[in-house]
Amino acid sequence: MEVPVKPIEWLGDSVRIIDQRCLPDRECHLDLEDAGEVAGAIRDMALRGAPLIGIAAAMGVAVESRRWVSASWRDFSLRMEDAVQLLRSTRPTAGNLFWALERMKGVLAGFPEEAVPRACSDALVGEALKIYEEDLETGREMGRIGGDLIKEGFAVLTHCNAGGLATSGYGTALAPVYVARARGIGFRVYADETRPLLQGARLTAWELHNAGIDVTVICDSASHLLLSKGMVDLVLVGADRITVSGDFANKIGTLGVARSAAAAGVPFYVVAPTSTIDFALDRGEDIPIEEREASEVTVISGTRITPLDVPAYNPAFDVTPAELVTGFITEKGLVTQPFRANLSG
Ligand code: MRU
Repeated sequence: MEVPVKPIEWLGDSVRIIDQRCLPDRECHLDLEDAGEVAGAIRDMALRGAPLIGIAAAMGVAVESRRWVSASWRDFSLRMEDAVQLLRSTRPTAGNLFWALERMKGVLAGFPEEAVPRACSDALVGEALKIYEEDLETGREMGRIGGDLIKEGFAVLTHCNAGGLATSGYGTALAPVYVARARGIGFRVYADETRPLLQGARLTAWELHNAGIDVTVICDSASHLLLSKGMVDLVLVGADRITVSGDFANKIGTLGVARSAAAAGVPFYVVAPTSTIDFALDRGEDIPIEEREASEVTVISGTRITPLDVPAYNPAFDVTPAELVTGFITEKGLVTQPFRANLSG
């Protein structure tokens, strides 16, 4: 199956990304030339989605390393540590960010004092590209495994964008959708619009429509009605961080969808690579939840929609308890209860 979308590309001395803030109206790109620019793009959500954030952070360290190959080892290694610190500070909930940066730190730590910066930079670039390639492979695998869940005539509901645009190109929750389509299965997708930044309405709708998949956007509050009326057969969502108990964080609104799916008896699956599992966290309440600017809630496409003096509160993620999850689809297979034992296996 061809990669549906290419949200990130390593150009040798810069990182090219699709600026997702332009979608769906325009497809524009940004060339990022140092760790600061990559960190800015992650923080401002020019790119987003936990796996893509991890890949971009790794490439951010790699591109920064290119700028310091002629420096002394001491300066080079200090710059690399600063780059890692800066990138770590961008999005606190996305588990893949910390996972990818730990891998980059591991490469750095493998070089002795007074090593040659160029050799270390080559290794950092190699590791970033490996993280990217591995993500393509995990996407293919999750698609293959999760694709079996989608049957002829199904309606699949998804929340936010856990598609190609949130990863190296195949997606997590949308990877099974692409595979089912490639297998010739007829089905439809309902995409929650996903306020406040409308990742469902803008991004999921854009990428699925481009792939010729039957996609219908619904407002977030409609998903509960569709589930209770039997209009949905399967829910597929991604995850930003999964704990060892199976509680997981995903885009704000996921918890409500999970509750409604459970009440309606509709299977609710989380599709995520094992790199999203944080083995250091036991339960959902341990996951740090990002709070973003109120203006993301009060302003839509440049137009203020709330009274001037009324504040807004903008938690970007919520935590869904493990008991609402039917199963996790990772690149290693389908994981069912008991999650505590099976996620670590
Ligand atoms: O704030 P975002 O757009 O980065 O949030 C993205 C999500 O919540 C996704 O569902 C999650 O990162 C999984 S993406 C494959």
